[in-house]
Amino acid sequence: MAESKLPRRTVLKGGAAAALTGVTVLRVAGPARAFPAAAGDGGVVVPWLDQPPPPPPELDGILGHPLVWEDIEYLTPNEKFFTVKHYNQPQLSPTGWRLGLTGLVANPLSLSLADLKALPRRSVTFALECSGNTNGAPFAIGLIGNARWGGASLREVLKKARPLDPGIEVVFWGADKGQVTIRDNTGITGAGQTGTVVADGSGGLDLTITEQFARSMSLQDAMSPENLLCYEMNGAPLPADHGAPVRLIAPDWYGVANVKWLTRIEITDSRFQGRFMARDYVSIREEQRAGETVWTFTSVTHERLKSAPAKVIRAGDRYTVLGAAWGAPIAKVEAQVDDGPWRATTLVRNPSPTTNRDESAWRFWTLDWGTPTPGEHAIRSRAYDKDGNLQPTPQDPYLTSRRTFWESNGQITRRVLIP
Ligand code: MTE
Repeated sequence: MAESKLPRRTVLKGGAAAALTGVTVLRVAGPARAFPAAAGDGGVVVPWLDQPPPPPPELDGILGHPLVWEDIEYLTPNEKFFTVKHYNQPQLSPTGWRLGLTGLVANPLSLSLADLKALPRRSVTFALECSGNTNGAPFAIGLIGNARWGGASLREVLKKARPLDPGIEVVFWGADKGQVTIRDNTGITGAGQTGTVVADGSGGLDLTITEQFARSMSLQDAMSPENLLCYEMNGAPLPADHGAPVRLIAPDWYGVANVKWLTRIEITDSRFQGRFMARDYVSIREEQRAGETVWTFTSVTHERLKSAPAKVIRAGDRYTVLGAAWGAPIAKVEAQVDDGPWRATTLVRNPSPTTNRDESAWRFWTLDWGTPTPGEHAIRSRAYDKDGNLQPTPQDPYLTSRRTFWESNGQITRRVLIP
């Protein structure tokens, strides 16, 4: 497979705003540096026709800064990196902040930010994607970004706390919380001391409580050497909306596992069943097994093999498509224009400083499109991982068996108008 060097940072005049306000071309600042082999001098970006609409009002305050694909850079700048906040945004003072390690541990810990920074600093480049990205809703196509995350090894900290034998689960607690109603409970006895119980008219009971954001993973998964107690994003202190002062970074897991505003890590002897493990972010599938319908329920965990066309660049009368692929070690990416044949793309080599791990970063690819005919075209891509797995079509039986929209990794089609 041919490889070319990573395109240097591409600066688009007008960027997101111009793309969304219908300007037809965006000029790439600077000479051939951006896409030396592909775009040439004075390349211009042709924005997609299918621009995402803004998120619906009920998601106000929950989703922020979705990626504008035409603006893609290898490292997504912190202020342009998408955010998901299910509850409030806690303001935690870095000086007063402490992280508790509690539960089934021989050596409970209470660590300050200085304690974490005194440990060896590790870094990883990781494309963090929300499991609700590209779920079919037209606005949900930019919930991904790639950053270089820095921090202390979670494994080293857990080892210092010395997990005790019956401990199987590690629960990561964020400082953010909100009111949630748990519907149709039949097992509630008496009015809960911390919540409000009301009959819901269907024979069930609604329980309204204040729930903290929390996610868990098995102790074995938590001990993975890649996991970070992260305090740095792209070389800057972790920004407030990305979880300052410290968040979990669990490379290769979907966004929801990467708990922000961490305050407590607890080791327990039973599976944790909070909202974001057992009620939300659960994939429900309907399977046929030996003539019977079987329903499966699985909590969102690891990212899936995926790719997307990011932008079309014109240099003179020649066009190049640049895209990204992620979710697994990428072996190759193919692209298709309209109903034409699948064509090999060129994988771009990632910059990988020796102190940084980058297998979890996204990988750019380019397709030399030549001189297409004027008019509207559809462009899609499909990635193969190093084990030979192929990114599925949206009609793949596994994807269509889902009754929830999480973990959608079907091939993505974008539309472009060639003048
Ligand atoms: N952590 C806390 N404490 N609260 C949250 O709402 N959202 C999760 C995860 N961690 C969330 C959280 C989800 S769904 C995603 S996709 C990622 O954070 C997004 O991380 P980002 O906002 O830094 O992009």
